[in-house]
Amino acid sequence: MPRTNPNLLRNYNHRLNGIEPSGIRHFDDTISQNDDLIKLTLGEPDLNTPEHIKQAAIKGINENDSHYSAQAGKIELRQAITDYLSNRWNLEYDADEVVVTNGATQSIYSALQAIVNPGDEVIIPTPIFSLYEPIVEFLGGNVINVDTSKTEFKLTPELLTDTLKQHPGVVALVINDPNNPTGVSYTEKEIKQLGQVIVKFPIWVLSDEIYSEITFDHNHYSLAREISDQVLYINGLSKSHAMTGWRFGYICGPSEIIRRIKMINAYMVTCVADNVQDAAIEAIRNGQEDAFEAKKIYQKRRDLVTTKLNEMGVEYVMPTSTFYCFIKIDDSYGKDDYQFGLDLADNVGLGVIPGRMFGDSGQGYIRISFAASDEKLENGLNRLNKFIQLLEK
Ligand SMILES: Cc1ncc(COP(=O)(O)O)c(C=O)c1O
Repeated sequence: MPRTNPNLLRNYNHRLNGIEPSGIRHFDDTISQNDDLIKLTLGEPDLNTPEHIKQAAIKGINENDSHYSAQAGKIELRQAITDYLSNRWNLEYDADEVVVTNGATQSIYSALQAIVNPGDEVIIPTPIFSLYEPIVEFLGGNVINVDTSKTEFKLTPELLTDTLKQHPGVVALVINDPNNPTGVSYTEKEIKQLGQVIVKFPIWVLSDEIYSEITFDHNHYSLAREISDQVLYINGLSKSHAMTGWRFGYICGPSEIIRRIKMINAYMVTCVADNVQDAAIEAIRNGQEDAFEAKKIYQKRRDLVTTKLNEMGVEYVMPTSTFYCFIKIDDSYGKDDYQFGLDLADNVGLGVIPGRMFGDSGQGYIRISFAASDEKLENGLNRLNKFIQLLEK
């Protein structure tokens, strides 16, 4: 085994020094020592990839689809994506305005790399999925967090206007709609109002819409419908088709920035695996019903979780979408959701993610994922109830 040579330590990229590995994974690993743990931690669908999608990949392998594809993705796939976006969300893109990536994760990374120069500011409303912030920092940018906890966990036109006026160096804004970890989603009216603010400023918006197929109480409305010349639209199949392990996502936007993103991806990974693209064509062309079926399942579970939390008298943010519920912790812990999460795992064997993992404004909350069986959810919430009763004694 090679030893770490101390003379080489100064040759590392210094920007990595301040960046920590994913707090979510770390917390999950810490509590997973407990054998009897019910885990409602990770954002991982418990459903399986639909059979016809698996068969499309197998057919591709058997037919020797095992070569480099076009770097932005196969043309049939990019056409399937543009048809889907047009029919489903009224978004109009050409196939050459689409880049296929290894998960939405790579879309997010490449988009930020195409935009952010050292010192540039990026607005990230929190609580939010924990990926964007370390990438901006890695690129030498500065994150401007906006606390949405006092505005029903949504960015309002007023908050956005104030922040943009205070920070003239902002080059981009991240919107994650529907939102991980709170499960809230913007209405058409709210998106239009945000669009009216954004259009007045020369900024990009990374619109991460990966949960758009999992909305319960109102239809999803994409920001890209309002300001398509400023939006980088990001989506994928990880959540809608239980395909996290396939690593498939895509990004769409105006041609000049997409040209740059294509180049970044080509230098980084060349292309997405050939047979994964075969599976994606099948999922996008013939898998709309799968997404509808999955959503029905998540909606039932949302109802199960919220009914149970109501019975327990526990406060939470109503999830209008996704498979997450953001739950307020017991007052006796103040805002210490981290300790609450540790004690919950230790005392009653329930694994959740502390809200602070999604930004400071998530303090005082925990996130549970209801991408789990009814039985697991019932048992998990019974354990939460037991823990709360123990605290009251
Ligand atoms: C909001 C959000 N965006 C992107 C991702 C990453 O998606 P992918 O698996 O396609 O890389 C996740 C995964 O949890 C997420 O919650």
